[in-house]
Amino acid sequence: MHNNHDLSRRKILVSIAAGCALATQGNSIFSNAEVRTVAAGKWPWPYVKLDPADTAELAYHEWYRVFCGGAVISSVFSQLREKVGEPYRSFPVDAFVFLEGGIAGWGTICGSNAGANIVSNLIIGPRIADSDDGVLIGSEVMQWYSDAQMPVYTPKVPRFPGTIPKTKSDSPLCHISVGRWMKAAGKPLKSPERRHRCASVAASVAYRLVELLNAWHEDQYDSTVESSSAIYGVYTQGNCADCHGSSIPTLSR
Ligand code: HEC
Repeated sequence: MHNNHDLSRRKILVSIAAGCALATQGNSIFSNAEVRTVAAGKWPWPYVKLDPADTAELAYHEWYRVFCGGAVISSVFSQLREKVGEPYRSFPVDAFVFLEGGIAGWGTICGSNAGANIVSNLIIGPRIADSDDGVLIGSEVMQWYSDAQMPVYTPKVPRFPGTIPKTKSDSPLCHISVGRWMKAAGKPLKSPERRHRCASVAASVAYRLVELLNAWHEDQYDSTVESSSAIYGVYTQGNCADCHGSSIPTLSR
């Protein structure tokens, strides 16, 4: 998935993007050679390495303002706004508050996962033939999320002082992730514990996302995931029995 051909092509694309930016924006290139601006509307966007723990802290506290998806996006983009500038300065992070509650309260994909996919795809870029790292980092985050005892990350100054249980969702979905945790914790949706839990989950995802983006930035990222459609012949989570019980329907392939 991630061979030398991909790498060299990506470097070429980044150079082209930087060249275009130079040509169209004159002296707007930052002195730091790592930082390149891109022309408005162009994609992918420049990235510089970030500190995972700093990012997680930002995500935790932003959750209380813009909830999970907005928090993950804000934690990364607020830093890149400072370190890179445009196009991050113009990106309306707060618009992504709608990712709360599994997208507009429907309990579908956990907003932290949706936010991680938005960030990784803006930074890594289009799915071009054999180079789809952006998509795969999103998939990688969701696999990790599903397998992890969440929340993984403990904030330095938590807004809820006590300890809370950790649960494994086996799913990237808000409904299942939050529901399993609420059952284990015996706490309702509006409780400070649940809010602290989801803020900590957003922080955990932001941490993992930046680890992966940093690895990718240093050409050290190797995807461990494969598209579910290649494995099952349909887009799905792998834990069929969770929803289908003992009678998993078969697909015509
Ligand atoms: C998050 C829950 C969930 C998971 C996980 C899941 N499914 Fe489903 N799946 C459903 C629901 C709900 C339906 C609709 C069922 C219906 O119409 O009776 C469905 C429908 C299907 C159908 C269409 C045919 C039918 O009988 O409904 C197939 C085939 C299928 N699933 C296969 C799978 C396989 C294989 C996996 C694992 C690789 C899987 N599913 C994982 C929830 C899930």
